[in-house]
Amino acid sequence: MKVLLTGGAGYIGTHVAVELAASGHVPVIVDNLVNSSDEAVRRVGEIIGWPLPFHPVDLRDEPALRAVFEVEQPDAVIHLAGLKAVGESVADPLLYYRVNLESTLSLVSVMHDCGVKKIVFSSTATAYGTQVQPPFVESNPGGLGISHPYGKTKYMIEQVLADLAVADPALEVTLLRYFNPIGAHPSGRIGEDPAQIPNNLAPFILQVAVGRRDQVQVFGNNYPTPDGTGLRDYVHVMDLADGHVAALEHLRPGSRLYNLGTGTATSVLELIRAYRQASGQEIPYEIVARRPGDDPVTYAVVSLAERELKWTAKRSIYDACVDSWAWQSANPNGYTSDQ
Ligand code: NAD
Ligand code: WQD
Repeated sequence: MKVLLTGGAGYIGTHVAVELAASGHVPVIVDNLVNSSDEAVRRVGEIIGWPLPFHPVDLRDEPALRAVFEVEQPDAVIHLAGLKAVGESVADPLLYYRVNLESTLSLVSVMHDCGVKKIVFSSTATAYGTQVQPPFVESNPGGLGISHPYGKTKYMIEQVLADLAVADPALEVTLLRYFNPIGAHPSGRIGEDPAQIPNNLAPFILQVAVGRRDQVQVFGNNYPTPDGTGLRDYVHVMDLADGHVAALEHLRPGSRLYNLGTGTATSVLELIRAYRQASGQEIPYEIVARRPGDDPVTYAVVSLAERELKWTAKRSIYDACVDSWAWQSANPNGYTSDQ
């Protein structure tokens, strides 16, 4: 299939592009590069062996997006584009509602007009809200008590896509709720390249390991967990990418929701230890106060994706640490490093 990847220049999108090409699909990237670079797209081309089509377009520019659809004639869309920084969304909710919702509305309008009926959407475990107990299963009610505008935009987009699938019985929608993506392509050529101070744990640890920051701050060690630090379901980005290929190939009329995680929970201190082992670096840390709004524990029930998509995460936490250390150590300043 020819697959239009919105946000395909970003961290997850670049890995999805590689795995789509490896499965015989043709990825086409649309990205306004607000949080990424064309060097990332170039390197995807280097990995897959051919330069993939890239359109530097903002999804909210509907005429420009329509022109891309007319030229490329995609069979399906994987919609990863959006803003994702939780703290920024609290400080500037209008930006998040505008970018994430308007981008999606523009995209689905153009898809409708061009007769494209298949869409896979990047959602998040955050869409479960704060009222359900871990492990999170797809049959849980979603959306209750989501504590930030970013998460609310993802839940709203899920609702929009599900409603469209009711209105148009030919529409094929799959919503993927990712848990915590980490890792990188094993080549070390592509990986996560945060533009600002990383919000997430793994990129922060990597910047400490490579000497860009002094120490990791561990947000609380008095949670009701075995070592007192937060537990998360870290999933290798290559497994996540394979999950998109499986979801794409399994699209059916109607809308479906799947968790993409591993089903196991790892603590902050366990992740720091795994990165120490993988990198051979010391990775100092200090315990600081809890971060407001953090859940003590989140992890997925993964049986639905196993059963229906025939997908399961295969790579270990240690694999993710080795692969992302290969990326970070070869590219200490991300895509702006001399390569
Ligand atoms: P990313 O920021 O690296 O990638 C998103 C891409 O979208 C960027 O390249 C950015 O330039 C592009 N983009 C943003 N607004 C756009 C617009 N209006 N038009 C065109 N392109 C635009 O983020 P990522 O980590 O690769 O995440 C991809 C998707 O997965 C996002 O939707 C995110 O919300 C979701 N997600 C990410 C995580 C995570 O922890 N990384 C977890 C759950 C869900
Ligand atoms: C993981 C654990 C922290 C940073 C967020 C978003 C979610 C999704 C993924 C996009 C927690 C602890 C963290 C640090 C730390 N994003 N931590 N020191 O909070 O599970 O999820 O990213 O969709 O929507 O909410 O991920 O990596 O920020 O935190 O101790 O410097 O690491 O307290 O226990 P989180 P995270």
